Amino acid sequence: TAPVSINPSVLNSDFMRIGEELDRIADADRAHIDVMDNHFVPNLTFGPSMVEQMARRSPIPLDAHLMIADADRHAVAYAEAGAESVTFHLEAAQAPVRLARELHRAGAKVGVALRPATPVDPLLDILAEFDMVLVMTVEPGFGGQSFLPSMLPKIRRVREAAGTAGLELSVQVDGGINRTTIEQAAEAGADVFVAGSAIYTADDAAAEIGALREIAAR
Ligand code: DX5
Ligand code: ZN
Repeated sequence: TAPVSINPSVLNSDFMRIGEELDRIADADRAHIDVMDNHFVPNLTFGPSMVEQMARRSPIPLDAHLMIADADRHAVAYAEAGAESVTFHLEAAQAPVRLARELHRAGAKVGVALRPATPVDPLLDILAEFDMVLVMTVEPGFGGQSFLPSMLPKIRRVREAAGTAGLELSVQVDGGINRTTIEQAAEAGADVFVAGSAIYTADDAAAEIGALREIAAR
């Protein structure tokens, strides 16, 4: 299996100092960028031009998490902005297979995200189209919420389905990840871990990234 990836979310960082905030997580594998449009979720963050500037400035690749409506129309701009991976929500896409192929053609790795109430079954038939499945472990929209342990079976099902199909699939978890919950998520089969508040509230972000990576990898 692939090594674990620790992807700090800059959502709760100081947006006035975003360049320095990206430098603070240079020890991590990827920077998780939460794109929100005030429609799919009740919060508003970055658009493609900001993501393009962050991609140029960041010492590590960007993992864009699109919490936006009408992903079919808007997602490709984030691949063109230079994000290494682009993850759209299954609930926000009319034609997820077509969109995945467009994103691949634009040069990105492609992820598909599931809100907590979205069942995994409709995804299983099209799993081969994706490089990554993001199992949300909070309701998307805000950092600092508590991990939903009821999502652990969903992580397990995605990992098992990928194994059965012989796919090399990353399983990402996002929401409430800390030193305790990362262990549960890893045990269930996740290998890509987003952590926002756990890393940005730590005095030493690099040390927290290292601690999370060590727990996830064992
Ligand atoms: C929530 C976002 C997350 C958020 C995670 O909608 O998708 O990426 O920043 O923050 P924590 O780790 O604090 O739950
Ligand atoms: Zn996210």
